[in-house]
This record gives sequence, structure tokens and C-alpha cells, in this order.
Amino acid sequence: MEIFLDSADLNEIKELKELIDGITTNPSLVAKSGHKNKYKDLISEICSIIDGPVSVEVVADSHEEMMKEGLDLAKIAKNIVIKLPLTYNGLISCKKLSTEHNINVNMTLCFSPVQALLAAKATACFISPFIGRLDDISYDGLSLVEDICTMYSNYMFDTKVIVASVRSPTHIIKAAKLGAEAVTAPAKVLRQLMHHPLTDHGLAVFEKDWL
Ligand code: E4P
Repeated sequence: MEIFLDSADLNEIKELKELIDGITTNPSLVAKSGHKNKYKDLISEICSIIDGPVSVEVVADSHEEMMKEGLDLAKIAKNIVIKLPLTYNGLISCKKLSTEHNINVNMTLCFSPVQALLAAKATACFISPFIGRLDDISYDGLSLVEDICTMYSNYMFDTKVIVASVRSPTHIIKAAKLGAEAVTAPAKVLRQLMHHPLTDHGLAVFEKDWL
């Protein structure tokens, strides 16, 4: 399973770059990084640090503007993946960017299996089901991942599932058991993956015994 960092923070990206396979960003994360007015410079710097896929989201609403913004962002680096919202305009832009321009697209803000089905039919490279936001409103986010994995497997779609809006290591374990190709998580959760109290305790004992 690929592990992506969900961040636009250069310090976090530099800290975790050896452990991750790529990056996902969104407009909120870019705004939080303080680089909103230098969006393309920020993305270019991220791509100089990370070799794997770097998902960058368009902020346009119309099909024409999504195409323009997507084509423009895709020029920044070879590993750019254009992130589009799961709307009608997002889907038709996905199909066009993918089939006519050979650009990888990550369809984001997915909250239902049928949205994921449409994304696969629009030849999206990635689908991003937001499981934490579903859990927040008392729906089972991971059951959405299970449905998508089953549907994609039934029809052998090439679209890869990136489990997104991850809140805990448990989300990642369950996503891996379901066979999702990738997960994207904030730095806080990725740091949690490395820690276990018994590892800390065992290490302290080894160090003490070695004195
Ligand atoms: C994924 O691509 C999104 O950027 C992200 O996972 C959203 O997570 P949130 O619900 O914690 O904002």
C-alpha cells in the first residue's frame, strides 16, 4: 500500500519525505501553509522534494476553467496529479484531461460508491473517499472504501483508491486490510504509526542493560 502525506507544509514534507510515496494537498492545506499567493511556487518546491505523485487541486468551478487550471498546474512537474471535485464539471474535465492530455487525475471529495463508479468510468487515475468526514456525521467511512474496492475489482477498473480524510492509525490498518492501493494521512497520524510504548520501553531496557 502506498502512503501519502496529506500536507502543503514544507517542513512536514521534508521531515517525512523518506517514509512517504507521495503528497496530497487541497486548497485548505495550501491556505494554511501561508503560500496561497505563491501556489505554483509552493507546488514546484514540493515536486523538487518528492518524486512520487503530488496531487494538486483546482479551485475553478466551470469545466472551461478547470481545464485551463488543470493544464496549467500539470506543466509544473512530471509527477503532478490534478485533483478535481466529484461534480459533473469535475467528471467531464477528468475524462478530457486523462484521455486527451494524458494527465493523471485524482477525483476528490468522494462520499458515495456511485460517485466512485463515475470517477472510474471517467478514467480517473485515483479516487479519494473521505472516510473521516463520513465518520464525523455518523456514517461508516470504511464501509465506503469496502464498497469501492469491491466494485472496482468486479469490473477490473484501473482507478486506484486513496483512502483520505484519515484520522487515526486504525483507519490505515483497516484500509490496508480492505486492499486499498493507497492512504493519505496528516503528519500527526503518520508520526503515530511509528510509535509503540513497548518499543520505547524495550529500547530503554536495552540501553540500561548495555551500560
Ligand atoms: C485528501 O486528499 C484530502 O486533502 C484530505 O484527506 C482531507 O482530510 P480532512 O477531512 O481531514 O480535511
